[in-house]
Amino acid sequence: MAGGGSALEGREYLFKVLVIGELGVGKTSIIKRYVHQLFSHHYRATIGVDFALKVINWDSNTLVRLQLWDIAGQERFGNMTRVYYKEAVGAFIVFDVTRCSTFEAVLKWKNDLDSKVKLPDGSPVPAVLLANKCDQKDGTKNDVSMDDFCKENGFAGWFETSAKENRNIEEATRFLVENILANNKGLPSEDVDVTKIKLDQPPLTADSQSQCC
Ligand code: GTP
Ligand code: MG
Repeated sequence: MAGGGSALEGREYLFKVLVIGELGVGKTSIIKRYVHQLFSHHYRATIGVDFALKVINWDSNTLVRLQLWDIAGQERFGNMTRVYYKEAVGAFIVFDVTRCSTFEAVLKWKNDLDSKVKLPDGSPVPAVLLANKCDQKDGTKNDVSMDDFCKENGFAGWFETSAKENRNIEEATRFLVENILANNKGLPSEDVDVTKIKLDQPPLTADSQSQCC
C-alpha cells in the first residue's frame, strides 16, 4: 500500500504497518504511546485487531500516513492473520524483555508473516524487532548477539523500547519507514497514486486516531 502526489504538491504515502508479537508484550501500549502520548499499567487484551493512524511530516516535501494494525497476541493461534497481513508493507515484531518465552516466539511470528505476505516484487516485508519493557531490565540482550540474530533471521534491525518511558519508539518507527520508503523508491508515480489505494477497512479521517474493529 503506497501513495504518491504530483511534484508540485509533494509526495504522500499511505503505509500499512503490522504490530505483532505474543500476548501482553506491549503492542497496544507502544502504539498508544506513539500516537496519543499515553501509557497505562492496566492490561486489557486486544481482541482481533485495532487500528491507529499516525501522520508524519517526513520532510518538507513528503507526508507519510502510517496505518498501524495492532494484532492481538492470541491471533497467532487463529486463522485470521492472513487476512490482517494483506497488503502490509512493514512490520514491528515485539517481545517482552522480561519474558524469554516471548522472545522465543518471535521467529514464529516472523515465519507467519513471511509465509503470508510479500512485497509486490516477492521479497519479504521489512520487519523491525522491538525489545519492549526495557525500563524493567538493564542490559537486556547482548547487542552483538541481537545484531547477529537480526541478520540471520531477516530483520531489518532491532530497538530496545519502553512504552512506559517513551524510549526509542519514534526512532524505531523512523527506521522502519526509511526501509519502507527505500522499497517504494523505484515505483513509477502512476503506481503510487493515493487515489487508487483500496483499504480493507473504512478510511480513517482524523490526523491521529484509533478505532476498534
Ligand atoms: P495483547 O493485546 O494481549 O496481544 O497484548 P499487547 O501486546 O497489546 O500488550 P499491552 O500493550 O496491552 O501491554 C500489556 C501490559 O504490559 C500492560 O499492563 C502494560 O501496561 C504493560 N507494558 C506495556 N509496555 C510496557 C513498557 O514498556 N514497560 C512496562 N513496564 N510495562 C509495559
Ligand atoms: Mg493489545
